[in-house]
Amino acid sequence: MPNVGIIGTGSYVPKRILKNRDLEKMVNTSDKWIVERTGIRERRIAGDDETNVTMGRIALERALENARLAPEAIEMLIVGTNTTEPVWPSAGGHIAKMLSLRKNIPFLDIQAGCTGFNYSLSVAELFVKSGQYRTVAVVGTDKLSTITDYKDRNTCVLFGDGAGAVILQQRAEEGIIRSHLGGDYNRRDLLVLRKNEGNGNRFMWMDGRKVYVFAKAVMVESCLRVLDPGGTASKEELHALFDQVSKIIPHQANARIIKGAAKDLEARLDVPKGSVDKKMIVTIEKYGNNSTASIPLALDESLRHGKLKKDDLVILVGFGAGLTYGANLVRL
Ligand code: ACO
Repeated sequence: MPNVGIIGTGSYVPKRILKNRDLEKMVNTSDKWIVERTGIRERRIAGDDETNVTMGRIALERALENARLAPEAIEMLIVGTNTTEPVWPSAGGHIAKMLSLRKNIPFLDIQAGCTGFNYSLSVAELFVKSGQYRTVAVVGTDKLSTITDYKDRNTCVLFGDGAGAVILQQRAEEGIIRSHLGGDYNRRDLLVLRKNEGNGNRFMWMDGRKVYVFAKAVMVESCLRVLDPGGTASKEELHALFDQVSKIIPHQANARIIKGAAKDLEARLDVPKGSVDKKMIVTIEKYGNNSTASIPLALDESLRHGKLKKDDLVILVGFGAGLTYGANLVRL
């Protein structure tokens, strides 16, 4: 089977910054509580004229520039998102129109909570690998601020807005090596949209504690499954594989979840304390949780700032509403 690689990345975050100090004036919380419990100091909030579509469009435009491709090169567009309003038609069609992509290309949205980027990347990879489409664009974009209740301190301190994108093509060198996707529909009620009886708006509600425990466990499981899908590798083989991994880009939901998962993965791999943690890329401090955007945004920034470079081996690992989870092992 041919290799499928990421040949360009792009991202976008809105200008407006919402700091913990601003939230202190909105709900009964404190900068200290938020930093200690989540690692978040500020998050970006889209303007009234911005949507998941407008943000996704900019991220994709930047990914195309980065790949040195014209929009006409795209033969399929897959958008991981949870916040298209109205739900019909899909964000993919709007983004395709804005960028004047080829008129007859297929486009679709994948709604898989914050794992939407991992899911979309996996689906896109299959289309490129099969040879059905030569160039497929993948966008992760969400405006969670539209479904966040800024009167609910349990959720409003966590979320932000943004977008990221990648372009996939076949190439000679290794690229996306393996993906693992999973879900647990029995836990679907732990993170849902609930109608506010007062104003009729639908806002996110979650059982934070239970999502936290789930997230930590599935991140570890997904990382192991992409390193050793059959669970048959010896300890030495697993260590050799893990040594090759330059960085792990986790979904940015809570710095404590990331730290906790790193610690548990260290135990499962039987590697020295801190050796997984130091590979974790953490951007949550400045962006909070911007859902499907968090992984491609961190990937794009890391490449542009030299934290990652071509040929590095990375794990992209996510979890989210559904509940869903998954990881991609990628040679950049
Ligand atoms: N400021 C101050 N106090 C708060 C705040 C706040 N913003 N939020 C909650 N508290 C209070 C609670 O009311 C509780 O008070 P009580 O003890 O008097 O009842 C206390 O702090 C502790 O609450 P916990 O829920 O136990 O706090 P925890 O340490 O678990 O942190 C958090 C809460 C940050 C929500 C954590 O559970 C978490 O990150 N969960 C995962 C959430 C997540 O990642 N969701 C997104 C999934 S991705 C997607 O698809 C969108």
